[in-house]
Amino acid sequence: MPNEPSTGKRPRRRVFRTLLVVAALLVAGAGGLGIYYLQASVDTVGEVDFSERLAIPPIADSRVDAAGTRVFDLDIRAGETRFLDGPATRTAGVNGAFLGPTIRAHRGENLAFNVHNGLGETTSLHWHGMHVPAAMDGGPHQTVAPGSLWTPKWTVAQPAATLWYHPHLHGKTAEHVYRGVSGMFILDDDDNQFDDAAPFLGNLGTLGDELLVNGVHGPYVEVGSRLVRLRLLNASTARVYDFGFSDDRRFSLIGTDGGLLAAPWETTRLQLSPGERAEIVVAFRPGETTELRSYGGGEGLDGFTARVNGGADRFDVLQFRAADRLTDTTEVPAVLGAAPDVDVADVARMRSFELAGREINGATMDMDRVDFAVRKGTTEVWEVVNTNGYPHNFHVHDVQFQVLDVAGGAPPPPLRGWKDTVLLAQDKEYRLAMRFSDYSDPDSPYMYHCHLLTHEDEGMMGQFVVLGDGEETGGIPDSWHDHP
Ligand code: C2O
Ligand code: CU
Ligand code: CU
Repeated sequence: MPNEPSTGKRPRRRVFRTLLVVAALLVAGAGGLGIYYLQASVDTVGEVDFSERLAIPPIADSRVDAAGTRVFDLDIRAGETRFLDGPATRTAGVNGAFLGPTIRAHRGENLAFNVHNGLGETTSLHWHGMHVPAAMDGGPHQTVAPGSLWTPKWTVAQPAATLWYHPHLHGKTAEHVYRGVSGMFILDDDDNQFDDAAPFLGNLGTLGDELLVNGVHGPYVEVGSRLVRLRLLNASTARVYDFGFSDDRRFSLIGTDGGLLAAPWETTRLQLSPGERAEIVVAFRPGETTELRSYGGGEGLDGFTARVNGGADRFDVLQFRAADRLTDTTEVPAVLGAAPDVDVADVARMRSFELAGREINGATMDMDRVDFAVRKGTTEVWEVVNTNGYPHNFHVHDVQFQVLDVAGGAPPPPLRGWKDTVLLAQDKEYRLAMRFSDYSDPDSPYMYHCHLLTHEDEGMMGQFVVLGDGEETGGIPDSWHDHP
């Protein structure tokens, strides 16, 4: 086993090839007529020439300061990127013209960021899936004015997982994410080291009829090992993907939003709604070619609604070209991580959330209203239902939650790991258990919202604070009113 590092508790995990696929869809040039025609269905299967090598986002540079804190400099800026033939597209990115580097950190590390906003307009940077103090969360109350610097800090206190970062400015999240301000945030822990020499695969682009993977249109990637681990992020503003391979091969889901599953789950299809992540392992045969595809999954909607919301669309996403010789030094372990185990014997509070239209429980987001407070050190169960006829999902800041049940039944395998974002099938009640273990702050709320970013921007969001013993909500401080 020449390539296999010999240290670490579970060496098998160390040698997965690590590929990153960030999915985001790009609306290609809209033409000059000024008339927008809603194309009811898109199908790129067989149309993509896979002529561009997939770009892999670089790992963000960092330094460790005298106090042992790992420091990252993130510069949000505007730029131009050439995706297709013809004129360049006006884009935005972090430390570059489109998308951002992959931030990688280790469990237990102290992190500090210098986030500089060179975009020419106010934005913010949210650490999606990260357990951070509310004032560091980068939500709509932690805006960064043009030309200014924001310096959040925290200690990584959660298991290895595939997280991501993106702007979260109230009313403008979709626009900023769509232009390209997002990247991956990978957490490692001691049980879950990777072979850093392996190639990384990167992201996809935005919604419309053209698809970008890591900012590349029609990408291919060369595969050098039998097993490949893909980190999939749906960074699209609105589209739900139903991933599979062009030859319907089976693959293993090994991790979801908050970390590894207890055991791998074999499947041929995997749905991923905006904001969700999945880690999958795919096996290749020497010399073969296959494509990652998104099949029209219908999203559980009726025919017409599904069709006009992209539920019937199909995309050829990414082509894999296996080398004539593949290294073969590893297997998918039968036991991966620990199953979520929120103790629901002692639930402090049940709450209900009904999503319909652009409202949650009949209200739209108000920057000046804290919807509720939870107590530090307690466990809550949230019942969430989409009664609306349209696709919605539900994302909670601060915590990773456990899906207890869906419409009273056991959650399907992809919902049995730690989650921070869940797609809501029509009229089904999702019961989510979560524990608010620390980080109380009466003055800085966390968000919960639909992660279809236009819905979020149109107000499908609410906010809560975590209160320590004896703390009461302070109301909204005046300093919050300086948002645009
Ligand atoms: Cu991806 Cu409220 O965030
Ligand atoms: Cu988030
Ligand atoms: Cu929604």
